[in-house]
Amino acid sequence: MTMTTRQYRLTPGTTGLALQQDTRQLPLLAEDQILIRIGAVSLNYRDRLVQQDAATTRSGLVPLSDAAGTVVAVGRHVSQWREGDRVSPGFFAAWQDGPFKPHHLASALGGGSNDGVLSDYVIAQADAVVAVPDHLSLAEAAALPCAGVTAWHALFERGQLQAGETVLVQGTGGVAMMALQLASAHGARVIVTSSSTAKLRRAEALGAWATINYREEADWDKAVLDLTEGVGADHILELGGPATYTRSLNAVAHGGRIAQIGVLSGFDAAPHITPMQFKNASINGICVGSLAHHVRLNQFMTQHGIHPIIEHQFAFDEAPQAYSALAEANHMGKLVVTLD
Ligand SMILES: NC(=O)c1ccc[n+]([C@@H]2O[C@H](COP(=O)([O-])OP(=O)(O)OC[C@H]3O[C@@H](n4cnc5c(N)ncnc54)[C@H](OP(=O)(O)O)[C@@H]3O)[C@@H](O)[C@H]2O)c1
Repeated sequence: MTMTTRQYRLTPGTTGLALQQDTRQLPLLAEDQILIRIGAVSLNYRDRLVQQDAATTRSGLVPLSDAAGTVVAVGRHVSQWREGDRVSPGFFAAWQDGPFKPHHLASALGGGSNDGVLSDYVIAQADAVVAVPDHLSLAEAAALPCAGVTAWHALFERGQLQAGETVLVQGTGGVAMMALQLASAHGARVIVTSSSTAKLRRAEALGAWATINYREEADWDKAVLDLTEGVGADHILELGGPATYTRSLNAVAHGGRIAQIGVLSGFDAAPHITPMQFKNASINGICVGSLAHHVRLNQFMTQHGIHPIIEHQFAFDEAPQAYSALAEANHMGKLVVTLD
């Protein structure tokens, strides 16, 4: 049977790449593949970078990495999934488990030349998806592949977070709010920074131990030291980039860990890292995570009954508005597009 799918593609526009909706025929399913009817997708800051990067993004690329949906057909050699199962593609189709290898990077969905998930139907390798936890809607599960797995990898896989430790997250976007929820559930004390006092009040309601408005208190590193009686934060999710590196080095505790994750203020200006040696502190580079990380994140979410924070859900035809909302950055947590 011939099937078609609605999808968005990134094509050259007047400034960078523009979203264009079209309808295409789906290829035939290979014997080790599954066909997923997508229920929801979510946006990440990375999707802005992909859209702006006409040099490395293939013209015609289907964007976005994060989705959840329902299996509607399986290839004849697929035994682990059945029609009706709810699944979510992993961010890196090739990174199943174990250490990160160079070829894993090239398997990221929705970037470079790999089509993503902003589509009614997606074909995936059967071993490149994870089951959606029962307590989550498809919209909630679509919030996890990039932001959730990154926060989990940074805090629990590399960070070995312990109850009672202090965690600092920067801003109130997708990665930061997932980290707040995960770390709080584990018994850590989470400090949240934000440009918005209203968002900080919401973060407190979500369990933040302390909050700092980084616009009003530019020396937020000193505020972290004050809050922790001079000790500093045991874990810092470094999301800001050049605007925040140096203060993160100042605010991290002796023996603490900085998870180098974000580029919100750009890619330049490497910090002066010598202070790390006098603190016996570490910098962990974090690049999302593996399917095994995703599975363990889902187990933790289930155990603690955690639901990701979704600021707004857009309809499929409103995907361009979802991109605009991401750029405006008034959201807390995630922005989601739901499909019929
Ligand atoms: N390495 C990886 O594998 C990986 C994975 C996921 C994300 N990332 C990166 O992590 C960053 C966050 O991604 P996301 O998807 O969570 O973003 P997002 O949802 O778009 O969040 C954006 C928020 O970041 C905050 N922000 C902006 N500039 C800031 C600054 N200078 N200092 C502190 N906070 C600032 C703002 O929060 P307020 O409005 O509250 O101030 C803004 O609303 C991005 O740079 C992204 O590329 C990397």
